[in-house]
Amino acid sequence: MPDRYDLPAGFRWGVATAAYQIEGAVDEDGRGPSIWDTFTARPGTVRDGHTGAVACDHYHRYPEDIELMRGLGLDGYRFSIAWPRIRPTGAGPANPAGLAFYDRLVDDLLAVGITPLPTLFHWDLPQALEDRGGWLNRDTAYHFAEYAAIVADRLGDRVPAWITLNEPFVHMVYGHALGIHAPGHALMLDALPVAHHQLLAHGLAASLLHERGLDVLISNNLTPVEPASPSPADLAAAEAYDTLHNRLFTDPLLLGRYPDLTAFGTGPDLHGAVRPGDLDLITATPLTGLGVNYYNPTRIAAPTDPSLPFTFAEIPDVPHTAFGWPVVPDGLTHLLLHLRDTYGKALPPLTITENGCSTTEGPDDTFRISYLSTHLDALATAAAEGVDVRGYYTWSLIDNFEWAEGYHQRFGLVHVDFVTQARTPRASYAWYRDLIAAHRVRCATGGSVTSGDR
Ligand code: FCB
Repeated sequence: MPDRYDLPAGFRWGVATAAYQIEGAVDEDGRGPSIWDTFTARPGTVRDGHTGAVACDHYHRYPEDIELMRGLGLDGYRFSIAWPRIRPTGAGPANPAGLAFYDRLVDDLLAVGITPLPTLFHWDLPQALEDRGGWLNRDTAYHFAEYAAIVADRLGDRVPAWITLNEPFVHMVYGHALGIHAPGHALMLDALPVAHHQLLAHGLAASLLHERGLDVLISNNLTPVEPASPSPADLAAAEAYDTLHNRLFTDPLLLGRYPDLTAFGTGPDLHGAVRPGDLDLITATPLTGLGVNYYNPTRIAAPTDPSLPFTFAEIPDVPHTAFGWPVVPDGLTHLLLHLRDTYGKALPPLTITENGCSTTEGPDDTFRISYLSTHLDALATAAAEGVDVRGYYTWSLIDNFEWAEGYHQRFGLVHVDFVTQARTPRASYAWYRDLIAAHRVRCATGGSVTSGDR
C-alpha cells in the first residue's frame, strides 16, 4: 500500500487559516465591519457568546506565527484576506492600511521561503454589502471582482496563485439556508441564488486575475455521499444530496452547466438567478487547480420530512472528532477517485486546501496525528491510482475561532491560550515538521526513507 512518503516529488506542504478566525483587531486601521462582527454581536448565535474581536491576535502577532510556519519547513501558507480591511464599505476606495498589512505578511512569508496562497473570500462579507442584500444580490459578485483586482494589483507581483472563494456550499447552507453562520438567514431552498452569485463572483474575479497572469483556484467543501442502504429510495436521496453539496458547486465550473435541481424545486436558473451568458462568465477562465476541503463523508437516507429530498444518517462504527465528525480516511480516496471518474479531462490538478480535526487533547495530540497520517496515506493511495494531487494544507496552524462553536473546537498543530495568547506547539507540530522533512529526503534520494524517518 502506498503511504504518505510516496506522495509525488514537488508535492507542496502547507497549513491553512482564515482572517476572521485568527486576526482579531476588528476595529483597527480602518477595517469596516463584516457580517461576522454583526452576527457574533447578536445574543445566542455563537456558543458562549464568543466573537472574533481578538481571536488569535494574529494581526499583531503574525511575525510569531510566521516563525512557527518556518519551523515546520512549509512550502506554502493558505490564509484569507479580509475584504472589509481592503474595502471597508464594500465599494469605494481601497484602505491603504488594510493593503499594507497583507503586503507585510506576504513579504515576511517570502523572506522565509513560504509561498503565500491567499483566499479572497472566507465568509467575512463587508456588512455594508449585506445591508444591500449580500449574496442574494447579484451586484455583490461585481463588487467582489473589483476588490479582487485591487488586491491582485497590490500583491500579484509576489503572489502567483489565488483562491477566489472558500466553500461556497457551506456559506450558502450554514449562512443563508439554516442561519447557523453569518449572516444568519434561514431561507432554506430560497437560499439557492447565493450559490449562483458566489460562482458568478468567482468567474468575474477569475478573469481579472488571469488577465494579470495569475493562477486561479477555488476551494470547495466536498464530501463523498453514501446511501444508508441499496434501496431505491436511499439511492435517490443520496444522489440528491450529492447534487446539492458537491455537483451544484463543481459542475458549473468544470462542465459549464448546473446539475438537475428538480429534487430541490427549481430548474437550472436557480429561482431566476442565472441570466443568459452567466455560465460562460463562470467558465471563461479555466481553473489552474481545484482546492478540495475534506473532513468526512456523508451518509444519506430517504427523507423523513417532505421539505427536503434527503435525511442524514449516522456512519456506524467509526471514531468521531471532538466536533462529532466521523473519521473516515478512505473517504478521501473515494472522493478523489470519484472526482476523476466524474469529470475526466475537465478536472484540473487537485490541492487539498483543508483537512484536519478538532480534539480535546493536551500537548500530546495522538488522535490528531493519527487523523492526519491516515488521511495523508489515503491521499497517497489516490495519487498512486493516478489522481493528480499537488499539495496539502492542513487545517489549522493554530487553534482559532471556530465560527458558531467559538473557541470550543481546537484544530491547531499549535495550542493557543486565549487569555495570554501564548502559542505552544503540540506533538502534531513536530510530527508534521518531521514528515515534511522526511518526504523531501525521500524525493531527493529517489525513495530511500529509513524506518527511523518514518
Ligand atoms: C471549514 C472552514 C474552516 C474551518 C474548518 C474546520 O468548513 O472552511 O474555516 O472552520 O471547516
